[in-house]
Amino acid sequence: MRQLLDEAAQGAYGVGAFNVNNMEQIQAIMEAARETKSPAIVQASRGARSYSQDRFLYHLMLAATELYPEIPTVLHLDHGNSVETCKSAIAMGFTSVMMDGSLMPDGKTPSTFEYNARATREVVETAHSKGITVEGEIGCLGGIEDGHGAGLDALSHLTDPDQAVEFVRQTGVDALAIAIGTSHGAYKFTKKPTGETLKMDRLLEIHRRLPNTHLVMHGSSSVPKELQDIINQYGGKLKPTWGVPIEEIQLGIKNGVRKINVDTDNRLAMTGAIRKVFWEKPEEFDPRSYLKPARDAMKKVVAQRMTQFGQAGHAGDYAPISLEEMAKRYQQHLTA
Ligand code: 13P
Repeated sequence: MRQLLDEAAQGAYGVGAFNVNNMEQIQAIMEAARETKSPAIVQASRGARSYSQDRFLYHLMLAATELYPEIPTVLHLDHGNSVETCKSAIAMGFTSVMMDGSLMPDGKTPSTFEYNARATREVVETAHSKGITVEGEIGCLGGIEDGHGAGLDALSHLTDPDQAVEFVRQTGVDALAIAIGTSHGAYKFTKKPTGETLKMDRLLEIHRRLPNTHLVMHGSSSVPKELQDIINQYGGKLKPTWGVPIEEIQLGIKNGVRKINVDTDNRLAMTGAIRKVFWEKPEEFDPRSYLKPARDAMKKVVAQRMTQFGQAGHAGDYAPISLEEMAKRYQQHLTA
């Protein structure tokens, strides 16, 4: 992933990181990547790893790299809750891991800076020796996803720019997730966010202080009204809600954001498509009759984000560097 993000920085674009749990979601991302000629970040949380028993996910990803050889593809661990979780992901074949030490290993309790820096540093040492990328997090996001998260008010633990600088210095992370008022899930904002609720000024300040660090925006689904409407039109019960506007993400991309995490928009798209089939064709019972439209709906959202984030057209810009070569580069950098 480090190479992907370095390339994105050079080309001044962002790369979406899309969560998966199953085959249809991986296929949706890879098809969108092929259609838009985009590099791809496929990410799995702890919940996804247990849902897929790890091995199913691993072999699905092998199939993805076999079937889409022209797409530089990352398998990234989303929100690793402990050093052990990150190490098990590395052993399983992930090429990038997130050590989220902003929370304690229970995935709920905000941690101290010292704990976070120590745990993240340990993961960086293990990962870099194998050529694997590490994302860290400083500050805490709002909401809960896959059982992970403190359920905090999104503005209560924003990233402190001084701490961000110190954290990057102490840990040597490749990418840094920051808290700027977003949260996981569908219910981020009760109206279109303003500078009061989505702290883009904080992001700009962090980028000014850390111009060479790849920043990561979590909780960055846009929660489009069209997708909410489809769910509600076919019997769903979503309350009105607002996500992160695309133009704010694009402002972030102009200011050091290289990885943008999107899960909820895809969940909404798939669920809407499935509800529509159930509503319109109650006689159907072949799972393919609803999983195929669900996969197509997710592919459409992913392709749209890939275009909006600017990664479209960049898949062929470079050949992926092997993990062995990356390990050497990290080693040289560390000893330089
Ligand atoms: P959303 O819930 O906004 O899609 O965020 C996903 C995410 O940040 C995964 O880490």
